[in-house]
Order: sequence, then structure tokens, then C-alpha cells
Amino acid sequence: MNDKLIHIKSEREIELMRKSCKLAANTLKFIEPHVRPGISTEELNTLCHKYILDHDAYPSPLNYHGFPKSICTSVNEVICHGIPSKKVVLKDGDIVNIDVTVFLNKFHGDTNRTFYVGEVAPEIQTLVEITHKCLYLGIEQVRPGAKTGDIGQVIEDYAHDHDYSVVEEYCGHGIGRNFHEEPQIVHFGPAGVGPEMRAGMTFTIEPMVNLGKRHNRVLKDKWTVVTKDKKQSAQFEHTLLVTESGVEILTLPDTPFERQFESELI
Ligand code: MF3
Ligand code: CO
Ligand code: CO
Repeated sequence: MNDKLIHIKSEREIELMRKSCKLAANTLKFIEPHVRPGISTEELNTLCHKYILDHDAYPSPLNYHGFPKSICTSVNEVICHGIPSKKVVLKDGDIVNIDVTVFLNKFHGDTNRTFYVGEVAPEIQTLVEITHKCLYLGIEQVRPGAKTGDIGQVIEDYAHDHDYSVVEEYCGHGIGRNFHEEPQIVHFGPAGVGPEMRAGMTFTIEPMVNLGKRHNRVLKDKWTVVTKDKKQSAQFEHTLLVTESGVEILTLPDTPFERQFESELI
């Protein structure tokens, strides 16, 4: 099959995607109470790894292009792809993004959230809230006939309105039998460009928004992406399904409160 083709999922495939995506969301829900000052990102990794295996799935990041751990943990100025480590111990005032992808019944589900560790400075809380809103503004653009660039435009505009910058080097992506597939979902404009959305497409939106400038570099470990100015970066991610009427967020957890909280935003 041509790798550039955007796969339209069948009803059967969509049902399997719903299951893997729900497990990814439930993993984030499971880890939330553990995100406290004093825990290491290695311990968070071990807990998520066990939870995913206990639910008959495999953590997609583990050994993916050589990634050594089961989740990504990105603290403060780390934008994405932070490697869990015993040496990284969370402290009061930190923010940490936990990115979970699971492989269940041959399908991947991918979601991430930025958590507060203890009391976080108001300026940083605002960055996190605006980034979450950016994700939901992007989700609102999803419907048959829209262009993928429409998502990027609203995200970029809203971030810039708040004097934040948007990371351009890392993108959302199609997902299904492959962790990353077509289409690429950039988090910047212009609107009206890129592939047209069609019912049955599944892809992620995962904006990375920086308090300072957008420029970044990869550490010597070849994975960890950090802001050059060392200011904080936040990120949120959902896996979406394009439906006939618009969009279904696949990575919502089972718990009613969380489902309601998230769906009130759109
Ligand atoms: N889950 C990340 C994403 O949202 C990708 C992580 S790749 C890894 O696309 F190798 F770093 F795990
Ligand atoms: Co992703
Ligand atoms: Co992810």
C-alpha cells in the first residue's frame, strides 16, 4: 500500500480504535494521583507500563525507533519525548506532560496531558490552560470537507493572541495500525491547505505551546526536545475520528466526570 494514502477506517477498525484509545485515556487517568512532588519519572513509567500490560496491551513507545521507555515524560522546558529517569524527581511547581500510546488488538491509541506538580505559578497555569484550549479549538475544526490546515490556523492564532509560540517541528499524525501514518497535522496555518478530511479518518492533534520562543533542540540522548530559551512548554493530545457529522474524541476515559469535563469544552 502507498504510505502516502490516508487510510479510511472501516466500522470494525473504528471499534478497535475506540478500545485502544480508551485504554490510553484510562492510563492517563490511572497515573494522575501519582503525579506528586517526590516521585521520579522512572516510577511513573513503571506504573504505566504495568497498567498497560495488565490490560493486555503493549506500550507503543517502547523500542519505537529505539525509544527506551514505555511513556514520554516531559518536564518544564522539555517540549516532548522526555525519557523517564530515576534522576528526574518531580518537585513542587513543576509541570509534566505524560504521553501514553498503547497498542491493543493491532491498533494504537495516543493521548497526552500536562499535569501540575503541587502548586504551580499562575503564569505557568495560564500557559497550560491556553494550550488545552488550543487543542479543543483544533478539535472544533474537524469535520468532513475541512482541510487539515484549518486546525493549525486556529491553534496558532489563539497561542499568538496570548503571546505564546507554537512548536513547528513536531506534529499530529494519522494513527491506526501504525503509530504514525498520514496525514500530518501541523499546529500552524495557513487554513485551507493540506488534505481534506473525510469520515473514517483517525488522527491526533497535539499542540506544543511555549511560554517563550518556539526554537528548540534535541539533547545528546537523541530524544529529549527542549526549548532553547529554557522556558516552559505545555502540550495536550487527543486521538480523533472524523465522523459524518463532525468529530468523535476517541481518547476519553471511562469516568463520567472526565468525559463531561472534556466534552463541555467543545
Ligand atoms: N506519543 C508521541 C506522539 O504523540 C510519540 C512518541 S514517540 C517516542 O506522537 F518514541 F518518543 F515514544
Ligand atoms: Co501523537
Ligand atoms: Co502521543
